[in-house]
Amino acid sequence: CGIVGYVGKRNSQDILLEGLKKLEYRGYDSAGVAVYTQDGLQIKKSKGRLAVLESKLGDAPLRGTIGIGHTRWATHGKPSDVNSHPHTDNSHKFSVVHNGIIENYMTLKEELIAKGHVFVSETDTEVISHLIASLYEGDIVKAVQKAVSQMKGAFALGVLTEYEPDKLVAVRLQSPLIIGVGDGENFIGSDIPAILEYTRNVYILNDGEMAALTKDGVELMTLEGNFISRELFHVDWDIVTAEKAGFDHFMLKEIHEQPKAYRDTMGARIDAAGKKVVLNEIGMTPEQIRSIRQVHIVACGTAYHAGLVGKTVIEKLTRIPVETDVASEYRYRSPIITPETLVVVVSQSGETADTLAALREAKRNGARVVAITNVVGSSVAREADDVIVTWAGPEIAVASTKAYTSQLIAFYLFGLYLAQSLGTQDSSYISEVVAALQELPNKVEAILAQADTIKNAAEQISTHNNLFFIGRGLDYAVALEGSLKLKEISYIHSEAYAAGELKHGTLALIEEGIPVIALATQEDLFEKTVSNIKEVKARGAHVFGLNAEGETELVKVVDEVLTIPATLPLLMPALSVVPLQLLSYYASLARGNDVDKPRNLAKSVTVE
Ligand code: G6P
Repeated sequence: CGIVGYVGKRNSQDILLEGLKKLEYRGYDSAGVAVYTQDGLQIKKSKGRLAVLESKLGDAPLRGTIGIGHTRWATHGKPSDVNSHPHTDNSHKFSVVHNGIIENYMTLKEELIAKGHVFVSETDTEVISHLIASLYEGDIVKAVQKAVSQMKGAFALGVLTEYEPDKLVAVRLQSPLIIGVGDGENFIGSDIPAILEYTRNVYILNDGEMAALTKDGVELMTLEGNFISRELFHVDWDIVTAEKAGFDHFMLKEIHEQPKAYRDTMGARIDAAGKKVVLNEIGMTPEQIRSIRQVHIVACGTAYHAGLVGKTVIEKLTRIPVETDVASEYRYRSPIITPETLVVVVSQSGETADTLAALREAKRNGARVVAITNVVGSSVAREADDVIVTWAGPEIAVASTKAYTSQLIAFYLFGLYLAQSLGTQDSSYISEVVAALQELPNKVEAILAQADTIKNAAEQISTHNNLFFIGRGLDYAVALEGSLKLKEISYIHSEAYAAGELKHGTLALIEEGIPVIALATQEDLFEKTVSNIKEVKARGAHVFGLNAEGETELVKVVDEVLTIPATLPLLMPALSVVPLQLLSYYASLARGNDVDKPRNLAKSVTVE
């Protein structure tokens, strides 16, 4: 989510809206502003893109020189007008914008309800505004400090009260927040782009710090109230770089966000002992789970490729037969769906028309539908019976990266959860997989550190017009995704082939110098894959091999090798796809393409 705040002499609404526009990439399911006007504190907010709020404010502007604003990406509570920020309390004298999560908000909420507070939303943020109101004794800074001392979690806050209408309070605890310093005006922002148009002088708050801003000054202090002095930081980047957190493209930023996306998606879904999966969002009873005779996974594009990995994962862990289908095909092949079919739809956006149509078809036939989606409150999320949210955060680049890998994590969790309920795997194996899952984020970081080697390979392939990805088993599923990624953004024609199938036709296309990317990370298929690599080598291919640490044979048969950290073969896709994402990225860059917005493609396709 994004936070912005202003205190000064200009009309705050305009500045807040401009700031929110720059923050829309942090979340865009709802937006709102609170401004102190001559009629007191006024809040306007609405579900949907910022444009919806803008048109509301266009009809009835809020006039005043102090205000806070927010653009939301839902966590607690679906996107809706009431769940949007800013939130207020029963007196309507306080308003709060918030990023992050208050872990103990239920306990705080119950205590406040017992004291007579009435809540209108499902959010944790509303609890903060009530808490501050209940602790207020004439000093907003002190009230915020007391409130924060009772709150657990990671968050950033912007607070405004009608009682002290010249003051903004900002708090940072593990969720970024900066203060912009102007001339007779000051700003808060969840990151620099929000305020860069107005000032380049900022204070960067550290964890556990807060600030009180008036139009003429900024006081920085710890959450305990000890004043801090700090040098101003001068921002010399342009706004475009700032939005991308210093990365050249959203895609690269999102590739680098994967360790966090893995951690957030696993989050509270692994029990405290680290031994099993807890999926409270799945409402199926043990009997319902036992009655599942088949699973259909349905999705489009990259999400379909995640579904191919999901098929192997669920089959291996539960021995229930799984089919994975492209959504646009599924409906029209008269799929055999019964009430004993579990349909899993996978969609980053949750709005893809083909996927939604497949979901409805499944429901019409009496199947239970589980959705894996990145967007809380999306159509797919609303219509499915159960929803597993991938906490990847908004994905802006058209080519999906962190959403795909978070979908893989969701499949691992779901597969393990089913296996636990069915008793198809013993608990020691489950805890082994869970432990290996938790090691993945650090291993992804190790792969990202090898970006230069991958860049070199990408530059070599970027001059070719055709190439192949080969692999067996899960390596084949990842090869398909690697090949799609490359096609989408580099426009190089590529094909992914099951390595063993190559000789049954496609081998005819292998000629001198053609690049072949061979994935060989699956131990039990390794030797067979090596035979297939030799087949293409013998016909002149230039082979880039991908293997896991500890394997020493591949280097002898390929031209170039990239070694990634080892993990359980089942979990390998969550690592092996990362170098392929970087390969596509750098190949696209080398060809001078628009990486984030490839030609002919849209992020979310809402036509069938
Ligand atoms: C579009 C995008 C793809 C995406 C597919 C499915 O075609 O360009 O990157 O994989 O839709 O999107 P979804 O939001 O349903 O995962």
